[in-house]
Amino acid sequence: MEDHLNKQSLEVGCQGARPGEPPDPCVVVIFGATGDLAHTELIPSLYALACQGLLPRSFAIVGSARREWDDDTFREKMKQAVKQELNSYTDEAWQTFASRLFYVQVDIQDEPSGAYRTLKEKIRETRDQFDIPDNVLFHFSTAPSLYGTIVEKLDAASLLKQDDGWRRVVIEKPFGQDEESARRLDRELRCVLDEEQVYRVDHYLGKETVQNMLVFRFANPGFEPIWNRNYIDHVQITAAENAGIGTRAGFYEQTGVVRDMVQNHLLQLLCMTAIEPPVCYDAESLRTETAQVLQAIRPVDVKNDAILGQYDKGEIEGEPVRGYRDEDGVEENSDTPTFVALKLNVDNWRWAGVPFYLRTGKRMNRKVSEVTIQFKPTPHLMFPTEQEGERMKNVLTFRLQPNEGIIYTFLAKQPGADIHLEPVRMNFQYDQAFEIDEPPSAYQWLLLDAMQGDQTLFPRSDWILKAWSIVDPIVKEWESEPWLDLPNYAAGSWGPTEADELLRRDGREWKIL
Ligand code: BG6
Repeated sequence: MEDHLNKQSLEVGCQGARPGEPPDPCVVVIFGATGDLAHTELIPSLYALACQGLLPRSFAIVGSARREWDDDTFREKMKQAVKQELNSYTDEAWQTFASRLFYVQVDIQDEPSGAYRTLKEKIRETRDQFDIPDNVLFHFSTAPSLYGTIVEKLDAASLLKQDDGWRRVVIEKPFGQDEESARRLDRELRCVLDEEQVYRVDHYLGKETVQNMLVFRFANPGFEPIWNRNYIDHVQITAAENAGIGTRAGFYEQTGVVRDMVQNHLLQLLCMTAIEPPVCYDAESLRTETAQVLQAIRPVDVKNDAILGQYDKGEIEGEPVRGYRDEDGVEENSDTPTFVALKLNVDNWRWAGVPFYLRTGKRMNRKVSEVTIQFKPTPHLMFPTEQEGERMKNVLTFRLQPNEGIIYTFLAKQPGADIHLEPVRMNFQYDQAFEIDEPPSAYQWLLLDAMQGDQTLFPRSDWILKAWSIVDPIVKEWESEPWLDLPNYAAGSWGPTEADELLRRDGREWKIL
């Protein structure tokens, strides 16, 4: 089998990835296997790993959900999904991969002696068939409210016993709905699992460019000496999407943008920017340092420093789109926010006085995610400039998507008899530098890390709780009494005008993207 898949990897051009030690042979069990995530991320990522020869020597994948599918249906659906997601699909590699795919119908609420016993039986059968030791990775991508129940039932069915191998649990976000419910879920998990067995997913941490932020700062000597309040004016973090909520109204109406994007992805990006140098690149050091960053964040002045919004109808790429309140499954007077802009302060020695401006939203002008470091001007400029603003042109951008890369904008002399300064760009493009069509998906690395027992890119429980404590006041204040009239931005725009005002009052403006 590996022969097929490895050969395949050469043919389909999986360049750029450097295989390390393969993980322990194991069975991967996916709860919620009929859902979107399994179709768009989990199975395509596992297939891509198999093509690169990065999966364990022997493995099997057992999908489970409530639907009455069997092995063949599961294989056929996943085949269509992989074909749609990956250009690298080939029938030959798929057939080998699909022979390791199985399905068990499980109603999560079922008794441990019912469906869970069938699941246990299936795990045992696949282990016998492929000679897999007793290692099982459970992946939860069901409704988050079911996570506690799944763990309880798995435990009752003796599926979490680690007598002859390991058990690990990968949990999709959101981890709780607020600090209190996250604490509760944490307690439920900890009754039967150690922290070392729990892998809380934040897929932003698996993005190549996010990991590159650390490499850029800590593997190169040039920028770290100026990475502080003496040289940095402010930081902007944007995760804009032009998509709406699609078919996720049920989830989104309960969640809203602050819980969906800020409590996890945006705060992780802030941590990756503001982190102190960890002693080494391992789970303990990195997770301790990111938790320290959150500790230093000043409680948000909600009324002044948080702007929320909801999209109205508008146009995206020339096509008319409806407003949030007209989306299927959304209340006609819903106050669920789909946009947020925030000003955060990190009160520590390095960052005192350097604001971090965050913004994210659905149905914005286009899909783009960036972290921008705006440097201060030189203390004195001997060259003539027409505008004071010209002196602020030193900007470092980590571009997460699209066109992943790192861009440094600085001033140069324009050719000519006079000294005329113009901003120019040094541009590192991920695809060109590493000759890859597109960077591997975040899920590939996260699934591989979980199989290898590496928690470096998975947030620790204290980080999650602290992140909730930062965003909870915003959500609570908004839910008790919204302070802006919604909808307040047109689909296809860059958000409400109040978000521009948030920076303008500080004499700054959002970078044009
Ligand atoms: C998910 C959110 O975590 O991240 C979605 O639930 C959002 O609402 C998505 O669309 C954005 O991820 P990415 O990788 O496309 O920026």
